[in-house]
Amino acid sequence: MITTVQHHLLNQQRSVREATGTFSRILSGITLATKMIEAKIRVGGLTNVLGAFGAVNVQGEQQQKLDVYANEALLHCLGQEDGVAALVSEENDHPITVNLDPEKGKYIVVFDPLDGSSNIDVNVNVGTIFSILRREGDLTQSILQPGYKQVAAGYVVYGPSTVLVYTAGHGVHSFVLDPTVGAFVLSQEQMKMPEQGPYYSTNEANAASWPAEYREYLAMLLRGELGGKAYSARYIGSLVADFHRTILKGGVFLYPPTEKAPKGKLRLLYEANPLAMIAEQAGGAAVNGALSPNGGRILDLLPTDIHQRTPLIVGSKREVEALVAAVRGAKG
Ligand code: AHG
Ligand code: MN
Ligand code: MN
Repeated sequence: MITTVQHHLLNQQRSVREATGTFSRILSGITLATKMIEAKIRVGGLTNVLGAFGAVNVQGEQQQKLDVYANEALLHCLGQEDGVAALVSEENDHPITVNLDPEKGKYIVVFDPLDGSSNIDVNVNVGTIFSILRREGDLTQSILQPGYKQVAAGYVVYGPSTVLVYTAGHGVHSFVLDPTVGAFVLSQEQMKMPEQGPYYSTNEANAASWPAEYREYLAMLLRGELGGKAYSARYIGSLVADFHRTILKGGVFLYPPTEKAPKGKLRLLYEANPLAMIAEQAGGAAVNGALSPNGGRILDLLPTDIHQRTPLIVGSKREVEALVAAVRGAKG
């Protein structure tokens, strides 16, 4: 007996307000697009889908062909959905309106179509990240809602197997794409992030330009002052893959402010917010390291721009709370 993502969501009918046909159809649009992306990635080296596309996106980054393909797949599969008011993509300068009838266009889907683009050509895990918001009145304001208003969030990591992880606010559940049936099949319910983990995950090449308290935090972890097992470093360079390992094994992923990206490199709406919702639902935490009382809980941040960036520290509670203490200690 297999349980697909759609069944699983509808089975939650009782507890998830969004478990409606419309919402389930949107989820089907996302899963169809990710299956199209997966099919391209699987034979990347044989088709003309690797390498640079030859254009620069709104982020100022060289678009890879697969970035463009993944974006077009999601725009195509979701752009036909009556229930979608607008789409926001890392690869598009502005939101794309789909159905402005407030009676029908109830949801906004925000996504990073292909995360980890620098790893596409070297056959390393990449992913797709999505976040679903409910339209509440003014469309622009609805797009710029804080992360705690997300109705669902998820990602697909394209790796040795293709795994979809999602939450609709009632736990985190994972599904494996079974190529024999062409469906994502339930593999784990109510995933829980370990209290503390053996891994820290960051690009240490930037350490010299982090605020000093981040270097001290890492040194504290490595001196074993947080207890637990001795730490090991793991950094894949695809946020989705580094996050997926963290939710399974525990530990902390951090992308602090750097000289090159003083506001952080990762994007709030379609990288930090969806992963923060999943982390919290799995018993973990996600902050931006700011000094506000809760250390800058990602889900409380009020977005002002659809492509705004944020520092991101996400993972097991122990490590994230220790980072907040380190930042607070440093700034007193
Ligand atoms: P994207 O490919 O969507 O632009 O995201 C890349 C991000 C994220 O996946 C990863 O964690 C980070 O960039 C890696 O940045 P560095 O190469 O600076 O470490
Ligand atoms: Mn990304
Ligand atoms: Mn991307």
